[in-house]
Order: sequence, then structure tokens, then C-alpha cells
Amino acid sequence: MKLKLAVLPGDGIGPEIVEQAMKAVKAISEKFNHELEYEYGLTGATAIDEVGEPYPEKTHELCMQSDAVLFGAIGDPKFDNNPKATVRPEQGLLLMRKKLGLYANIRPVETFESLLHKSPLRRELVEGADFVAIRELTGGIYFGEKGRKDDGNTAFDTCTYTREEVERIIKLGYEFAMKRNKKLTIVDKANVLESSRLWREIGQEIAPGYPEVTTEFMFVDNAAMQIIQWPKNFDVMVTENMFGDILTDEASVITGSLGLLPSASIGIHTSVFEPIHGSYPQAAGKDIANPIATILSAAMMFEYAFDLKEEGKLIRDAVAASMAANFVTEDIAEGKAYKTSEVGDLIAKWIAEN
Ligand code: IPM
Ligand code: MN
Repeated sequence: MKLKLAVLPGDGIGPEIVEQAMKAVKAISEKFNHELEYEYGLTGATAIDEVGEPYPEKTHELCMQSDAVLFGAIGDPKFDNNPKATVRPEQGLLLMRKKLGLYANIRPVETFESLLHKSPLRRELVEGADFVAIRELTGGIYFGEKGRKDDGNTAFDTCTYTREEVERIIKLGYEFAMKRNKKLTIVDKANVLESSRLWREIGQEIAPGYPEVTTEFMFVDNAAMQIIQWPKNFDVMVTENMFGDILTDEASVITGSLGLLPSASIGIHTSVFEPIHGSYPQAAGKDIANPIATILSAAMMFEYAFDLKEEGKLIRDAVAASMAANFVTEDIAEGKAYKTSEVGDLIAKWIAEN
């Protein structure tokens, strides 16, 4: 099969971790005789420095012409403490989501046996937790009307959702639930927000169409508690953009394995696959960052963008083998720690040999 990829390494540790994922992608392509074609594109602070904008048109065209996008991370501390900066790396990410129509961000929350002791939760609470959080990604307060008034002393951001936006993401939630354990938790703040009341109304309309699925409506503040108290009670969770931003970060740390969790953003045009962690600027260039989340994002890419399940599984098996052998980076190593590039090499080699 022909696989045409756009590779956007971005900032910080982005280039190093994406390089390791590309080693795995190349090893898979050779093994399964796929014709791999890929091109690099600029994004984030790196793109601002080189061409003055964080998601240049050229990068967008590359994404549009590709079958999938492999993304590293964006963000640079030089922009974080300057609220007056007019161009910021994050705008590139938001623009990419909007222009590619990536309305669904899918984050599987899984635990890894060997890392349970790193979880901030007691082992018995988190062991076996396994759910998928689906975050709406192109609507809500991130993209609603925003601005300043009263000489700049009053600021506002608006949370707007249309029926169409809510319907498509809730339906996706049900499709996932049907393929899993048939439970969907729709998270909102319908006791306060009108946009949430629209979500709940639409959820109630769609639910009868999926009689096999147990539907649960939950307020976001309660969901924040339940993720900590009963993470094993979730199967599929669907929510709006900003609630999802916050809850998925919370969900990722309870597993003890932030450096291991991948994500897929899917929608209208080309899908994007990226680790859920950020650009970790303190580690940039040191060859110490954990490449596994990005490598697992490549596994999701084979499964979601190309429907190549066996390829995805082989990547997962290779990751599991490196973890079982304790051949991992310093963030999760129990004894000797290996370099980012060594872990990438080992995983690619394992793929070639198995
Ligand atoms: C994420 C990030 C982004 C978001 C930032 C960098 C704009 O936190 O992908 O979750 O808030 O969506
Ligand atoms: Mn976030």
C-alpha cells in the first residue's frame, strides 16, 4: 500500500521523538512492503522563527496532500510569559485543527503494569483502568467569539456549539462505545451552561438509537472527581473542547505514564497523530525524552488512517517488548536508562526481526 505522510516535528523534543517514530514507521513499511513517501513540514515556534507564522500555508498544503500527519509537539517557553506576543506557537495547532477539520481528539487511557507504581493513585484504584476520552476539538470556547472591551479592561471568550458539531461527536462516542464495553459517559455542565444543555438535549435524542449502550450524563466537576476515585468505571467519555483538554490531562497522569500515551485527531481532512505530552523544552536535544508516546501514535496512525491493524499491533508489541526488557528512557527506567535514540533503534530492530 502507498503511505504518504506529512511529518511535522515541531518544537522542543518534537524532532527527536518523531525521528524515533519514523524509524518504526520505516521498519514496518519495509516489513510489510508498503511504499512509504514522506515530507517534513514546519510548525510551531520553529516555523515562527523561520517563516514568521506557526502553521504556514505550505505546511497546510502538505498535510492536505498526505494520507496522515505525524506530529511531534509545539511550544516554546519564550512565548509563555509574554501575554502580549501576537504570534504564538499554539495558534499553529489551533489553526491546523480548524483547517483540517479535526473535530475529534481521541485519547486512549491505558495502564501499563510495569508503571503502576508511578501512578499518584493507589494501585488497586488504577490497575486495569482502560477507557477512551473523546474530546471535541474544533468548537467551543477555543474558537468562539473573543475579545476585549472597556479600553481593554474587560475580556470575554464565548463557548458556542451548533447542533451539527454536537451530533457528530456524540455519534462518534457511541460508535466507539459499540466497539468497546458499551458504556458512554457524556460530560457537560448542563446545570449552568446553555451550550451544555444543548449537548445534553442532543445526547438524550441520540441515546435511544444505541439501545445496547448504557448512557451516563455527568457534570464535569463530578467527572474530575470520578476519574480519580473510580477510573475503572469509564469506558468511553465524550465532552466539549475545554472540558476535554482538562480532563484528558488529568486522565493521563493517573496511569503514571504521561510519556507513553498517544492520541489521534480525526475529522474531515487528513488525520493527525501525536503524543499527548508537550514539547518538554528542558530536555530538548539531550536524547533523554521518552519516544514511546510518539511511537504508539504511529501505531494509531496505521490503525486509524490506513486500517492496517497488524502493522499497528506489531508496533505495540515492539513497545511492550522494550518495556518488558526495561530498555527504556530515564523517566521510567528502573536501573540503567537508555537514550531516546537507543530506544528508537531497539524498537525498529525488534519490528524487523519479529
Ligand atoms: C492540547 C494542548 C493544546 C490545547 C494547547 C497547546 C493549545 O494543551 O493539545 O491539549 O489546549 O488544546
Ligand atoms: Mn491540553
